[in-house]
Amino acid sequence: MNFPSLFSPLKIGPYQLKHRLAMAPLTRMRAAKPSLAPRPLNVEYYAQRATPGGLIIAEASPVMVTGFGSPGVPGIYTEQQIAGWREVVDAVHAKGGVIFLQLWHVGRVSHSSFQPGGALPVAPSAVAIPDLKTGTADGKAVPYETPRALETSEIPGVIDAYRQAAKNALKAGFDGVEVHGANGYLIEQFLQSHTNLRTDQYGGSIENRTRFLIEVTKAVVEVWGADRVGVRLSPYGVANGSGEPDPMPLYTYAVQSLNPLRLAYLHFIEPRSSGAGRAEANHQNVPSAMVLFRPIWNGVLITAGGFTGETADAAIAAGHADAIAFGRIFISNPDLPRRLQRGFPLTPYNRATFYGGEEAGYTDYPAHDELEQA
Ligand SMILES: Cc1cc2nc3c(=O)[nH]c(=O)nc-3n(C[C@H](O)[C@H](O)[C@H](O)COP(=O)(O)O)c2cc1C
Repeated sequence: MNFPSLFSPLKIGPYQLKHRLAMAPLTRMRAAKPSLAPRPLNVEYYAQRATPGGLIIAEASPVMVTGFGSPGVPGIYTEQQIAGWREVVDAVHAKGGVIFLQLWHVGRVSHSSFQPGGALPVAPSAVAIPDLKTGTADGKAVPYETPRALETSEIPGVIDAYRQAAKNALKAGFDGVEVHGANGYLIEQFLQSHTNLRTDQYGGSIENRTRFLIEVTKAVVEVWGADRVGVRLSPYGVANGSGEPDPMPLYTYAVQSLNPLRLAYLHFIEPRSSGAGRAEANHQNVPSAMVLFRPIWNGVLITAGGFTGETADAAIAAGHADAIAFGRIFISNPDLPRRLQRGFPLTPYNRATFYGGEEAGYTDYPAHDELEQA
């Protein structure tokens, strides 16, 4: 058997995992329209990737209507969406899998065409993403708009939306939730100095910029209990206009502030693969999140970004991480754990079908055994 460290058991919160190879959260933009509820195609996709005692972190799901920035992304704020997710969860559980849902608000990474009443996207401050283009709801490429800064009085309402979404995920039968604090979205916009110019208690000092992350996480913990809540961060990442000039003090403080909550896990995106959803990023000579933050974080550490079976096994054996999440090669290898364990060859992924569409590039990647029989 290959990779004994990767294929060793791990306890995350109350869950006894049989291996340490998790499915990373992956936005695929294939929910039903206009309900934005998961549909049978999504059920099939997740069921294909479920393994006994294997952790799946389901794709980022907006907690409220202002949290969207792209089409076909599943929500977690209506009864229909909860019912759709229930089908996904039941199918994963039927195969013995464990499934968390990633809770999302994009903040400024949106366009007014996705917003209720065509209003501007909301963000900590009125700072547009420079240089990059975004897509409108009808598919045109346009520059990012300058978002509207949230009033201080509106922030409790956004935190309540995370709390309600956490309750909805519980109702849908998930095993836990992950707070999406990575990749330049709303929480990271609060964390980082160039996107947070606020002068209230949510801006300015590192302590103030971290407040929103901590308040959201605590709200979700109130619903779930800490041992079924994870948080994802991307220090040193460059995605959607993110980039803290000196990440170490900020992220050291953030990780130290999360420690006392005793969460199920902390989940990083390694900076070398930052922006993997958009391009074949594999930055050289960048710091390693797991190596930098392992000594600071007291709990289970998951990381993701360009891992192979070899490097994942080595990272776990060296004690840098407890589990490794795989993204792109889990898209094209529904039976990824088995393929790595047995040393079967991997199917390459097709970037053109990552986002949107139907079964092509989604549920039609064969398992190894199906290839053998073909
Ligand atoms: C198509 C695609 C969609 C993604 N969607 C999300 C997402 O919803 N939430 C998130 O935190 N990361 C997202 N990511 C990042 C992945 O979770 C992962 O961290 C990244 O792909 C690096 O891992 P890999 O090298 O194994 O692909 C996405 C990446 C890709 C390629």
